[in-house]
Amino acid sequence: MNLNILDLLPNEIMECWKEIQDPAVIHNERMALYANDSFLELFGINRLEELNSREMGEFISPWSPFHVRAGMREAMGRRRDGDNMDVMVVTSPLTAKDGLLYSTILQDIGQQKSWEEKVLQGERLAAMGKLAGEIAHEINNPLGGILLYANLLKDDICHDSVALENISKIVKLATRCRIIAKGLLNFGRTPSQSCMTVDLNQVIREMFSLLEDHKMFRDVDVRMDLQADLPHIMADKGQMEQAMLNLMVNAGEAMDGEGVMTIRSYSLRAERRVCVAVQDTGPGVDDEIKTRIFEPFFSTKPFGKGTGLGLSITYGIVQRHRGRITVEDAPGGGAIFMITLPADI
Ligand SMILES: Nc1ncnc2c1ncn2[C@@H]1O[C@H](COP(=O)(O)OP(=O)(O)OP(=O)(O)O)[C@@H](O)[C@H]1O
Ligand SMILES: [Mg+2]
Repeated sequence: MNLNILDLLPNEIMECWKEIQDPAVIHNERMALYANDSFLELFGINRLEELNSREMGEFISPWSPFHVRAGMREAMGRRRDGDNMDVMVVTSPLTAKDGLLYSTILQDIGQQKSWEEKVLQGERLAAMGKLAGEIAHEINNPLGGILLYANLLKDDICHDSVALENISKIVKLATRCRIIAKGLLNFGRTPSQSCMTVDLNQVIREMFSLLEDHKMFRDVDVRMDLQADLPHIMADKGQMEQAMLNLMVNAGEAMDGEGVMTIRSYSLRAERRVCVAVQDTGPGVDDEIKTRIFEPFFSTKPFGKGTGLGLSITYGIVQRHRGRITVEDAPGGGAIFMITLPADI
């Protein structure tokens, strides 16, 4: 391949082209012919000569050599280290001495994409939260009626009748539905928050004391690494308890009875924030699931086992406290759920 691009393109075009700061490449339908330093750096190519006999499809995907499209489009940049990146690709035709060549400029839009995804996810959660709240509201009232009449029936039925047992089941199940509906209402609307000074370490210990005898934690090694002088936060204690409980229950359920659950609390003085991380040694969370994990009703548990509300409610609680919740892969497997909250440090 002729790397002296000046043999192919007029000098004036090249002078202008060399002004481009973004990664840029000159190519024909199939092969890359010439690239600027930013392009070489982006794709980990040490010398221009190494561009020799490299197909454009090795750098940009999708790439159709039979139909080079002039204009702007989103594509995937394929780096040599195997990492893909979102790029905006602008291709323009260049009139060469013996035919047509093309110039393609790339812009890394990974950051922009990830912000777009976050905004979209936030909007989707807000819309689903509103819908869930409305449905819960509609369900809550008839449920109240069902409970009332079931209780009235109970009073009318003689004590040794089989019907009494059945009605008690109706009352029990309807009560469970009401608890679920209440959780949904809390997710959908902003509940009145009673803020007080809260010691998160105390919340963690108290909530774990409710769970430690449960069979879910019987063979689980629980490690608490709680910062002794953790600054207190202004929060609704009941909601914090619910958030911690949800994370611990999820960790326990993920480990299926054995493993290590580590709960850490620490402060980030510079950011005036406190953090709580709940880590488990369960199967971890797939990347695909991570994008949906905070949605109401998203659950991978068998029907009847999980409502898929725990994390969406926790997300709502953290948001209302101007905090953040994230999920990461734990080194060596498992998941880490991390809550960060503002503190008056
Ligand atoms: N620690 C964890 N490890 C692995 N997966 C998890 C973990 N925590 C949550 N998940 C995944 O996220 C899903 C949603 O969790 P969430 O707490 O919202 O609902 P759930 O636990 O399925 O049901 P619910 O909490 O309402 O009983 C779970 O079904 C599970 O797939
Ligand atoms: Mg759960």
